[in-house]
Amino acid sequence: MIKKGIILAGGKGTRMSPLTKAVNKQLLPIYDKPLIFYPLSILMLAKIKDILIIVNKGQLDQYKKLLPNGNNLGIKISYIEQKKPRGLPDAFVVGERFIGKDNVAMILGDNFFYSQSLTNKLIENTKLKNGAKVILHKVQKPELYGVAKVNKNNKILAIKEKPKKFLSDLAITGLYFFDNKVVKYAKNLKPSQRGEVEIVDLLNIYRSKKKLTAQLIGRGGAWLDTGSIDDFYKTSSFVSAIENRQGLKIACIEEIALNNGWITKKQILSLIKFYGNCDYSKYLRNLIKK
Ligand code: DAU
Repeated sequence: MIKKGIILAGGKGTRMSPLTKAVNKQLLPIYDKPLIFYPLSILMLAKIKDILIIVNKGQLDQYKKLLPNGNNLGIKISYIEQKKPRGLPDAFVVGERFIGKDNVAMILGDNFFYSQSLTNKLIENTKLKNGAKVILHKVQKPELYGVAKVNKNNKILAIKEKPKKFLSDLAITGLYFFDNKVVKYAKNLKPSQRGEVEIVDLLNIYRSKKKLTAQLIGRGGAWLDTGSIDDFYKTSSFVSAIENRQGLKIACIEEIALNNGWITKKQILSLIKFYGNCDYSKYLRNLIKK
């Protein structure tokens, strides 16, 4: 079982400046909670309790104010700074000590997932022993993402980062599951023309060894990447529509911790104190009334 997960939450966020001049993108709101809660909730739904958050140099204090060490959620959160945004596979170099001899999941700090049976799918992926696994989702503008061409059995035939020429409409989402070899492979990658090490180069190493598999979210699920201001608003209205219709919150990390049996109702009370008098606390209070 994969028990460790990395959230890559650095990056310059230049596409969203001036919003991101003083605050990291992943701390900005998606409707009623900071963006980082969404990828964190995905790892928690996958029953991953040992989590490393990679942040920008100088932004550690901002994060620690919001998510101290995970104790209050029954998990362990550690942090490390990435000196500069060298590319996604750099997470496995920066996170080498955290990973140790284990397999690892990684989620990008700006990725949003919402789907029926998502928890079961996530748990299935944590069973990975060898190789790597990517999650694919159909998109209208594949040129904006890494994409994968698959055959009828979902075997990956080719992958490419932001292809100018059409290859496939299946985007490679920012959630990946890797065996321990990822550290060695990531260390040997050379930067591309844009000066970054590329996730597709890393995935291609696994593909060439026939060790790359894929899972599709399917049309009933939503995957949104909140790369631009427009995406922030669209994702916020999606969350608002669902939450207000159902009265259930998406990515309430305390609710997930409680349902997983990682914290008690008493601990929720101290979290209510931590957040203070707000709608989010009201929701937490309702959770422990049941
Ligand atoms: O969202 C899925 C897409 O994410 C994939 O389809 C692409 O294959 C993958 O390359 C990536 O593309 P983006 O263009 O969205 O990557 P971006 O540079 O925006 O980085 C994604 C997140 O990772 C963002 O929240 C910032 C963070 N990041 C990025 C880099 C390059 C870091 O923390 N450190 C980094 O060095």
